[in-house]
Amino acid sequence: MRFKYYLFDLDGTLTESEEGITKSAAYALEKMGFPAMTQTELRKFIGPPLLDSFTRFCGMTPEQAEEAVAHYRARYTTVGWKENIVYSGVPRMLRSLKQHGAYIALASSKPAPSCEKILKYFGLLPLFDAISAPDFGMKDPGKAHLVACALPEGADPAEACMVGDRLFDMQGAKAVGVTAVGAEYGYGSREELMQAGADITFDNVDAMTDWMLDGDAPAKGIFLSLEGSDGCGKTTQLNLLSDYLKRLGGNIVLTREPGGTPIAEQIREIILSVMNAGMSDACEALLYAASRAEHVDKVIIPAIERGDMVLSDRFVDSSIAYQGFARELSEGFVRQINSWATDRIMPDATLFLDMDPDAALRRRCAAGEPDRLESEKNEFFRTVYNAYDAMRNADSERFYSVNADQSVEQVHEDVLAAVQKAFEDIDRRRTAR
Ligand code: TYD
Repeated sequence: MRFKYYLFDLDGTLTESEEGITKSAAYALEKMGFPAMTQTELRKFIGPPLLDSFTRFCGMTPEQAEEAVAHYRARYTTVGWKENIVYSGVPRMLRSLKQHGAYIALASSKPAPSCEKILKYFGLLPLFDAISAPDFGMKDPGKAHLVACALPEGADPAEACMVGDRLFDMQGAKAVGVTAVGAEYGYGSREELMQAGADITFDNVDAMTDWMLDGDAPAKGIFLSLEGSDGCGKTTQLNLLSDYLKRLGGNIVLTREPGGTPIAEQIREIILSVMNAGMSDACEALLYAASRAEHVDKVIIPAIERGDMVLSDRFVDSSIAYQGFARELSEGFVRQINSWATDRIMPDATLFLDMDPDAALRRRCAAGEPDRLESEKNEFFRTVYNAYDAMRNADSERFYSVNADQSVEQVHEDVLAAVQKAFEDIDRRRTAR
């Protein structure tokens, strides 16, 4: 690794804030009855003080501008901040540095509680050793001061770098004597960064990561699975969750079982077809395992090696619950064939959508024609549920349960909280190793 200490600016360096800022500005204009602006015009709101922007760009009086700022804030503090997008490659960069024992800190002019909230929401907070940022209502202390405070006491500035996208970041870094790294992909240009003293600049995060790692291995990806009985609302939640995951700055591989590759999808058709009602239980278990072997080999392992995030709709736990318990093939036998099929790969975290089988049955009946598995008797699904229950109790470190018998919105919120907690635990475990 090139340095011991890595300091980062937030906006324009780790996260991209255009969507939240421009949508909130557009909202304020609409509320004030002012004409709408184009996206290019709205982009001018990123950076300068809001009061100035509303008076200068929209011709508002100071009183109108104050009202507009209040509308802006009302939207930004509720939904706008969640519209941030983590730059592609950022989680992989931070995890790679952490894995090699780096000290990582934030040096941002945004109020500290906002920084913390954003890092937490995107699952990055546990990767930071310190946050150097002003308190709410405090005057901006200047980047040099923030950079100096971000370093641990006694640290040699020659062993540190500061990454930022604006001239202030470069000037702050140089004032303290740390290497100034320019993030050209942010809101400042390469010229701006170079003129302000950047030692080096990068136009993408992956190239910057390679430079920082200086030949050391990058972090592996994260593997999540989603489980639950038929009818628990898994598909709806998966779609909502994927929208959140797409903001996290990683390559997201969304996949499913049985299926996920052309061969595995063909096996899926055989397994689920109502034409195959007489299929033996052993055949069914082996087909699920066969489809999984293909899926692991072609999709899951390559994605983890690339550092991507994999989210699989079902994995081995489904086979344990459905074939091992509900089909009474024995848990041991199903585990055995699957450990061979999967090369013993298991998810880093498994989200379990918890819904009583009777409630799930009512939902399934309302949803229409059942497939072969869904046509099983209610007792079958009670056994499936009990099996999941036993598995989550036995492996409480990997399982994250969410009550699925609530409104779609509430379940989604709980799913997000569970995923964020899972990231925290995964990162803590990995750094503790
Ligand atoms: P699917 O239509 O994908 O249902 P769901 O949306 O509930 O996941 O069908 C998958 C069915 O296959 C589902 O009933 C669960 C079952 N299944 C097993 O029995 N064993 C397994 O290993 C897997 C992956 C799924």
